[in-house]
Amino acid sequence: MSESGQLEEKIAHVKTIRTYKLGVIGLGEGRSILSAALQSDRWELVNVCDINEEMCKLRSSEFGLTRYTLRYEDMLSDPDIDVIAIYTPDQLHGRHIKMALEAGKHVIVTKPLLHSLDEANELLAVWKSSGKHVFVGQSSRFFEPMIHQRNDYLAGRHGEVDTVEAYYISDSRWFLQKDWSRQKGFSWMYNFMIHAVDLAKWYLPDIEEVFGYGHSSSNNKAFGLSVPDTMRFVMKDTEGRIAQVSGSYTKPTIKHVDPGISCTLRGTKGTSRAVYSKLLYHTHFPPEQPITHSYEEKFPYYFRFEGASHHAGEYQNYIEYFAECLDQGTTPKPDLNEGIHTIALMTAMERSMATGQPVKVKQILNDFSLDL
Ligand SMILES: NC(=O)c1ccc[n+]([C@@H]2O[C@H](COP(=O)([O-])OP(=O)(O)OC[C@H]3O[C@@H](n4cnc5c(N)ncnc54)[C@H](O)[C@@H]3O)[C@@H](O)[C@H]2O)c1
Repeated sequence: MSESGQLEEKIAHVKTIRTYKLGVIGLGEGRSILSAALQSDRWELVNVCDINEEMCKLRSSEFGLTRYTLRYEDMLSDPDIDVIAIYTPDQLHGRHIKMALEAGKHVIVTKPLLHSLDEANELLAVWKSSGKHVFVGQSSRFFEPMIHQRNDYLAGRHGEVDTVEAYYISDSRWFLQKDWSRQKGFSWMYNFMIHAVDLAKWYLPDIEEVFGYGHSSSNNKAFGLSVPDTMRFVMKDTEGRIAQVSGSYTKPTIKHVDPGISCTLRGTKGTSRAVYSKLLYHTHFPPEQPITHSYEEKFPYYFRFEGASHHAGEYQNYIEYFAECLDQGTTPKPDLNEGIHTIALMTAMERSMATGQPVKVKQILNDFSLDL
């Protein structure tokens, strides 16, 4: 094709793709989705909101924004906004999702979807009557090594996977500077360990029973927290496949060995391990020799501010995916049903820690009258 023909095709393509209009609430980690939206040709950032005006001003000067609001209602009543992205403290997600759905907006909500199952039924009812999407931004699924691992899994390179080991081990005492992390409704499991739980569940969606122990260390108690900061779990799915999920959050780590987040799949034909925040993916698919794949060249794409402390690359990947789903009329996953199921699994994990007994996920769903 001639150069002018190619140009015409490109212009025609740009004319046919739709841009979606975004409002963002919560501008701490919300910063990463601002960066993602501003770098996307699929999204237009219409407005941003935070109750802290200093934060609004900071992000406005950082990204050259011309508008912000201190009132969530301003974004909800704006007919120009299609999708609300929620990055407020964990305890507020349920309320903010409900308000967005009632205003007729699609929702992107960061993890954890909810901080307990108490709001789940009401949210499900509002969601069903809204006809809108709720997408849970489980960012680890959208990190480069995890994307490659998923592709290998879907291509069958592992054979039959019967063991998943997922970890999130970090010294995250820095996080406890945030007021809301020391208040009721925060837990290491819901805020941090959910990354490992979600990865295990991505591969073993039918986990039916879980058993585990948790402990609250003196480092944790020094911040006034009683929720466990160290947890170890074994899970079983309906076929007898096993997941092992671990988390520790207030103790020094061996930085170059402890990966942060890690997901290992062991299958009849091969094994792989994807890690975060190093851009590394380890595989052994015989007859190939073991290989370590490095995606280090993508560091600037994934980590745009202050080292590896933010998630702009993962959010870029998930908003592009979300836009494609809207284009095609498909459901972006994980959706509200899947997200609530993950919260039910974590509720079972909490109950197992409290009782010292294995707990069935179905029992939790029954106790909360949840029909997913
Ligand atoms: N990997 C990930 O996907 C990832 C990473 C980091 C944080 N997060 C999630 O992002 C959320 C926010 O975490 P953070 O680290 O940015 O916390 P943060 O405290 O730094 O930021 C939260 C912001 O929300 C604002 N806010 C609070 N209440 C509000 C309200 N009612 N209306 C409007 N704004 C309000 C605060 O002023 C603050 O600026 C949490 O749920 C956290 O789990 C996700």
